[in-house]
Amino acid sequence: MSDIAATTAESPARSPLAAEVSRRRTFAIISHPDAGKTTLTEKLLLFGGAINLAGQVKAKGERRNTRSDWMKIERERGISVVTSVMTFEFEGLVFNLLDTPGHEDFSEDTYRTLTAVDSAVMVIDAAKGIEARTRKLFEVCRLRDIPIITFINKMDRESRDVFELLDEIEKTLALDTTPMTWPVGRGRDFLGTYDVINGGVRLLEGGGAKTGAAQQIEIAELAKLNANLDASAVKDELELVTEASKPFELEAFREGHLTPVYFGSALRNFGVGDLLEGLGKFAPEPRAQDSDQRKVEATDPRMSAFVFKIQANMDPNHRDRIAFARLCSGKLSRGMKAKLVRTGKSMPLSSPQFFFAQDRSVADEAFAGDVVGIPNHGTLRIGDTLTEGEDFNFVGVPSFAPEIVRRVRLTDAMKAKKLKEALQQMSEEGVVQVFRPRDGAPALVGVVGALQLDVLKARLEAEYSLPVEFEVSEFQLARWISSEDRKKLDTFVAANTSSIADDVDGDPVYLARNEFYLGYTKERAEGIEFTNVKDVK
Ligand code: G4P
Repeated sequence: MSDIAATTAESPARSPLAAEVSRRRTFAIISHPDAGKTTLTEKLLLFGGAINLAGQVKAKGERRNTRSDWMKIERERGISVVTSVMTFEFEGLVFNLLDTPGHEDFSEDTYRTLTAVDSAVMVIDAAKGIEARTRKLFEVCRLRDIPIITFINKMDRESRDVFELLDEIEKTLALDTTPMTWPVGRGRDFLGTYDVINGGVRLLEGGGAKTGAAQQIEIAELAKLNANLDASAVKDELELVTEASKPFELEAFREGHLTPVYFGSALRNFGVGDLLEGLGKFAPEPRAQDSDQRKVEATDPRMSAFVFKIQANMDPNHRDRIAFARLCSGKLSRGMKAKLVRTGKSMPLSSPQFFFAQDRSVADEAFAGDVVGIPNHGTLRIGDTLTEGEDFNFVGVPSFAPEIVRRVRLTDAMKAKKLKEALQQMSEEGVVQVFRPRDGAPALVGVVGALQLDVLKARLEAEYSLPVEFEVSEFQLARWISSEDRKKLDTFVAANTSSIADDVDGDPVYLARNEFYLGYTKERAEGIEFTNVKDVK
């Protein structure tokens, strides 16, 4: 057994399920566009012998892979829209990397994906430091207590001062840092990294791609490799780093107060092995998940899962979809029956897709921490819970109030019924939110980012032959409304019928013309709660 796997399997008395669960590391990469997420993903997959996928690694320009190009819009814009899962094995561990769309208009998707991971890798461009989107995603991780491992990328180029970068992480994110490696030389003179914990230097040229012990190289030797290197300055710096760094504390990391920091170059495949080793050693095993009844432990033998993402079939002629479900406990076997708690009905999991190893359908079972794709014809929705018979719902899969609200105008009025069906499906997939006004006015769609509207338009046309336009509506804002007192809610709804709509689950939403109206209404609506995030159940 490898070192990493050995650290996780300390108890010989573990059940086979517990042993499988303890091998899982389910994580996402958070970063600002261009920091190197795609490049790092590719390099991580190389370690696992690369693998497959619900739509391969997506990249920009020419590197884009045709398999993920299922939507024309992605191709045209050079952005990745779909979230996919990539599973690979390394040194006895199973890594599930959940990919997230890079474009900020799809942040809702990204946030939901973060509900399905146990840890995250934060990629930072060494020349830029913490950027807006990294910060936003970090806040989501913090809300969910997701531990973060930091990878400072592009060390092969000119970077900002390294101490300053760490200081920025500490100050802007209120997160302690422990450098696990330290760059030797900078920019063009970047030679490799020093292993702060064990000593020794790993050189960029040769050996960078593999994990394993760093070479023990005398600092004076390094100076021989690069004449620009001031050996005594390097020695002083490494001594300072070793002495002054905060010691790594697993508990502080797991609680989200401290991040181990690795330096490298994804492009040169350098430092990626160290990062992966760190993930294996420190990132938590699948954690217990909150439900409305109890905390569900990953090692609970009864299978349970929640749906965090729906993806339409890549073939527009077939309207089936794949629901991505994160297993929270137990084992899922091909052919088993699961209870869909929302409807109370049982559904056979006859052809779940496992995104394992080289082939996407080799495995017949998956364990807590894994993500499976469940083909269905619209039975499953985002936020759905599947169990082996128990009645509980996982909580915490969010829906966000839209930032843009539009009315859909159909150019062919005869197709109104078809449009209704299509919008229902799109909202269940999480492409857009649909609000049906109680006064019978045409449906409104809400999105978090404008690009979602382009996706909706393209898909309605391609998959349903429905050409549509979007019109500005009199409403700009939508808030979910609720009250502890049912009567108060009914009274509020009755008094504001023309501003009330139902969302896809039939939950009431208040539509407002603008912030001013919203504020005005809120002040007068005693006992009514207005929220811009809804827990999908
Ligand atoms: P993203 O997914 O986070 O948006 O970033 P991506 O990996 O696509 O990387 C953005 C750009 O940065 C790419 O260059 C990529 O080659 C480059 N890059 C990534 N990691 C490193 C690194 O460690 N060192 C250096 N020097 N560059 C790195 P591009 O020119 O925009 O794209 P391409 O033409 O190379 O595809």
